[in-house]
Amino acid sequence: MADAPAPEATPKPVVPSPAAPPKPAAKPVAPPPASGPASPTKPSRKLTMTDKVNLQAFAWFESRFKLRHYAQGLRNFFYRINMQFPVSHTERYKLRIIWYWYPLYTLGSLALLSFVIATITGIILGFYYVPSTNTIGITCHGETTSEAWKSIGCKIYSVPFGFMMRQLHFWSAMVMVAAVFLHMVRVFFTQAYKKPRELNWLIGVGLLVFTLGLGYTGYLLPWSQLSYWAGTIGLKMALATPPPAVGDWVAGLVFGGSSLGQDTLTRMYLLHVFLLPIITYTLIGLHIFIVWIQGIAEPH
Ligand code: HEM
Repeated sequence: MADAPAPEATPKPVVPSPAAPPKPAAKPVAPPPASGPASPTKPSRKLTMTDKVNLQAFAWFESRFKLRHYAQGLRNFFYRINMQFPVSHTERYKLRIIWYWYPLYTLGSLALLSFVIATITGIILGFYYVPSTNTIGITCHGETTSEAWKSIGCKIYSVPFGFMMRQLHFWSAMVMVAAVFLHMVRVFFTQAYKKPRELNWLIGVGLLVFTLGLGYTGYLLPWSQLSYWAGTIGLKMALATPPPAVGDWVAGLVFGGSSLGQDTLTRMYLLHVFLLPIITYTLIGLHIFIVWIQGIAEPH
């Protein structure tokens, strides 16, 4: 009779010990004396999937770009700048009334707001505008026109909100020019251009020039009768710049030659939608940054 195989010494399955029953809410215990044993660390909160993904992403960026250093640097910079940021005029001079002409101090902000509106509506118009002087076979309400005029003076009205966008663009530009001019007048009559704000006055003069430049180049874009004759005035002025060789060069650079045509419109388009807005926004950023650092020269 075959011996029954001896039972193998199989390893005992490891049975997980039942989890310790949750302890009743511990009463606040006084911390152990410094010489005593170290207190057990508190069990940390279980990480959710989102926490883990966030941590992984953070660790990935942190190990490569040292984001925390920059964040800390930015925080220090922010606090340092804000320490320089002067307290409000009312607070500093313990005034009980607000000066009656404070609304005039919002003209700079009005200029910026109207520029932002002009930018947004201009981008929308840009989807429909065609910068072409071509008139061959182009008609609008039965009349021969340029492609540019057809796109912005005719077809735009059949686009939903097209009329509104064009009017908003036009009126925000008008308000901007008026606001910039009145803002400059306010700065002049409150003598806010004096030390230490001379540089900001000069930047402001640049802003006035670029604002008018935006208005002029935009006026030429529809390539209508008004545009054409406004362009003629500009071209004649450029050509009249002394000495004649310089005048010709200026006319060639800005208007694309000594007569108006497609080259003129292409230049106006580039200036209006690209170069001038970029320069103007950069200067506005610098201008307001300086106001932020120096504070406003409020009357007292
Ligand atoms: C796009 C055009 C401009 C924008 C968006 C703009 C914006 C601003 C803003 C928001 C302020 C703060 C105080 C206020 O609003 O009155 C300011 C202050 C100032 N701006 Fe302008 N500005 C423009 C054009 C000009 C022009 C044309 C000048 C002068 C030629 C100028 C000179 C100044 C000066 C000197 C200050 C400091 C005034 C003070 O401390 O009281 N800015 N600007």
